[in-house]
Amino acid sequence: MLEIRKIHCLHMDSPMGIDEAPYFSWKIVSDRQNVLQTAYCIVVEDESGESVWNTGKRGSDQSTFIPYEGRSLDSSTEYSVTVTIWDNHGDTAEEKTTFETAYLHRSDWEANWVKSPYPVTERGAHLGEQPEAVYFRRNFTLREKPVSARVYATCHGVYTLHVNGSRPDERVLAPEFTVYRSYLCYQTYDVTELLRTGENVLGMHVGDGWYHGFMLKTVDPLYDPAFAVLFQIDLTYPDGSTERICPDDKVFVARSPVLCSDLFAGERYDANAELPSWDTPEYCQDPHIWEPAVLASFGYDNLKAQLGQAVLPVMELPVKEILTSPKGEKILDFGQVIAGRVRIHTDAPKGTKITVTCTEGLDECGNFFDNHPTADQRIEYTANGADVIYEPHFTFMGFRYILVDGVPELKKEDYTAVILSSGKEEVGTFSCSNADVNRLYENTRWSQRANTISIPTDCPQREKAGWLGDIQVYTRTAMQNEDLTPFLTRWLRNMTEDQRENGSLPMVVPLAGAYVGQYEMLAQQGNCPGALAPAGWADAAVLVPWHIYEITGNRILLKEQYPTMKKWCDFIIRTSKENRGTGSTLPDEVEQYLWNTGFHYGEHLIPSYSKDGYGPQTYEAIAASTKYVAPIFGYCSVSTFAEIAGILGDSEEKAYYADIAEKMKNAIQKGVIGEGGKMPADLMGAYALMIYYDLVPEELKETFSAHLVRKLEEADGCLDTGFLATPVLQDALCKIGREDLAYSLLFQHKAPSWLYEVDHGATTIWESWFAMDEDGKPFESHMGEYTFTMSLNHYAFGCVDDWMFRKINGIDSLENGFKKIRIAPRPDRRLTSAARTFDSEYGEIATDWEWSEDGTYRLDVKIPCNTMAQIILPNGEVYEAGSGTYSYTCQL
Ligand code: BGC
Repeated sequence: MLEIRKIHCLHMDSPMGIDEAPYFSWKIVSDRQNVLQTAYCIVVEDESGESVWNTGKRGSDQSTFIPYEGRSLDSSTEYSVTVTIWDNHGDTAEEKTTFETAYLHRSDWEANWVKSPYPVTERGAHLGEQPEAVYFRRNFTLREKPVSARVYATCHGVYTLHVNGSRPDERVLAPEFTVYRSYLCYQTYDVTELLRTGENVLGMHVGDGWYHGFMLKTVDPLYDPAFAVLFQIDLTYPDGSTERICPDDKVFVARSPVLCSDLFAGERYDANAELPSWDTPEYCQDPHIWEPAVLASFGYDNLKAQLGQAVLPVMELPVKEILTSPKGEKILDFGQVIAGRVRIHTDAPKGTKITVTCTEGLDECGNFFDNHPTADQRIEYTANGADVIYEPHFTFMGFRYILVDGVPELKKEDYTAVILSSGKEEVGTFSCSNADVNRLYENTRWSQRANTISIPTDCPQREKAGWLGDIQVYTRTAMQNEDLTPFLTRWLRNMTEDQRENGSLPMVVPLAGAYVGQYEMLAQQGNCPGALAPAGWADAAVLVPWHIYEITGNRILLKEQYPTMKKWCDFIIRTSKENRGTGSTLPDEVEQYLWNTGFHYGEHLIPSYSKDGYGPQTYEAIAASTKYVAPIFGYCSVSTFAEIAGILGDSEEKAYYADIAEKMKNAIQKGVIGEGGKMPADLMGAYALMIYYDLVPEELKETFSAHLVRKLEEADGCLDTGFLATPVLQDALCKIGREDLAYSLLFQHKAPSWLYEVDHGATTIWESWFAMDEDGKPFESHMGEYTFTMSLNHYAFGCVDDWMFRKINGIDSLENGFKKIRIAPRPDRRLTSAARTFDSEYGEIATDWEWSEDGTYRLDVKIPCNTMAQIILPNGEVYEAGSGTYSYTCQL
């Protein structure tokens, strides 16, 4: 039987509240083999059943990213979508879904912004240096219960929505972290079931969040430190009539029991200051407590409907054990480093002050160790004597351990770790015969979960920032494990907002708060005011959409990001030409194509330079590796962009950028490679990047291979690559025919290595291999007054999973987006079995192999409908297959 398993609209399930033309994708399942779609028909109908788009039966095998091309859509309308497909066996299937629009025109907004009347002072970094959160409250009377009710809402800060004492969903920390001055998301809620005839109340509880918080505060010349909200309630009654309720002058504001809150510092809450039932009609609004909100005019120009899932509680963990440290601290261990917050149960006497401090690690003796000195990560709760559950509202932490102070009796069951992450579908699983490698895989999944909270971040405790280099190296792994299409699409739109006129891109997106100062400082260091554009970081502009395309075939995103990519590539080309390396003796035809000026991070965290912490050697590593990193990544962006231009059908631009890329390659070969085929810095990453990106001239290939192997020997079989070269190191080794060495890196237990972390109890991927030494002593180094520690939760080095996916499990695409699949596991004797599933755009791809002692190798494969696969067994036998499940054996 043929079936459509899932129709996605803008890569979401039945999205509610979109404000752009949707695109559709579906996955097909069948109990037959070799199923190919031969035709499809999409019909979109409005609420009255009138068709607004009917493709008719289109002979096509396309089942992903089909853009809507019907009549222009109306605001606030639910559309039904019917997809019918036909296959090559004469079977047919039909499936339905819906999507609902939000506001498609600026004129749909009528409401005024309103803001809190309370004066607010400058926010600081530490707990206590923020104002109280506030409640906004609007009463309204309904003549009867509506048949449909939507709330469209957003704020300056972060909020939760309350209607008649209930919350319409579980989302937290809305609106998303974006470049607020030009891109502020509003959320759509279905509140039909929460409303009633007569008196009703809409409430918004608003705290600091990204918008106001010290570290990531919005950059906007019109920034107003007050909490502000905007909402509209749109109602439809049984007789078809409609009504709209806006804030106008009927909104009142009161101080909430959240005495202060900050995403990094934590939250202080006084249960004695609660206003019970404040969000219900029964509540009696005391005029001494509630003040009228102040009308504000922030306008609607930056408003966009939320794209992608909200931040949600996705899991919970109980306390694993209570530890007593040598210092006598009672430490609660959740057994897993996570991002989220602690929910506490208490019936402590009125006035009891309970403090919960969170951290990721302990020191070598087992004492509580704070590895995020800039973030307090503390909850302070004052009890009111009742038996209650409290979970902080406007903060989240990165932690595994907590210290609790102030409770008469410490009970495990009173504490729960609530894990937060942006909601996304899981699309990957992995297991193999090596338990350590399995743990490594789990660690990448945990780090990904923790670092996809609204935006892709570096770490969830110290910075929570959208560092471009981190996601640049991690996108492929991320996409093979979770469906991040809407999430990354939203983030890339922010990148476009943060791109300067000159095409340059900052190191973090959104560029906000403390990073603005850092930007200026680094730009000064690199002698590039207003044009900071670190290689390998800013290249995310091209490489992130490209990697998404590789995994999903998403051309719509390539098209959308095309202008940003182009501007970025033009920046590289122009900067290379106009700014010449100091004292260069290279001929002009070489020098003008080398991107070798400005500030760059180099490879970042090269082990041989970062072992002893931050200091002069950090700058040496930057200086040394920048010499090859910038020209190589410049080439990489421009050559990839040329390919993208070709994919999108612009042959002229393709030719133009391909020609420049060729000249850049030539310049690298003539101007970067030195005597005897040595790179300007004799570093492992330099050889790996050159080999991986096919930049080595034919006559030097053997020399480069020898250099790479020599560097590995010098490093005693360990990797010595930073953020930018680690993702390509094992592939470079495979390319020179040394798969054995690539596997040895995976199985290495000495530091620096992935399994060193596992051996030392890692439950996530660490920022640096030296985050903890052999004896469990956490990394700490000092530069001036500043103490550096290492985060235990950075996904970047988890990029090894992409290599595992392609080599251990042998899943790769012959055509981007896995329309044509190559299954070619490259097993190593150190593993006896491995299995992986990946729910691709077309459906599940799976491989499962076992290598028994007598040399029999069995490979089970699953190929989804509407794709073709080439299967290459490790002994070289090649098979062609359509969809279905297959089993192969051979002797090895
Ligand atoms: C972040 C990194 C980031 C880097 C750039 C760090 O502070 O945590 O992950 O990419 O700075 O050097």
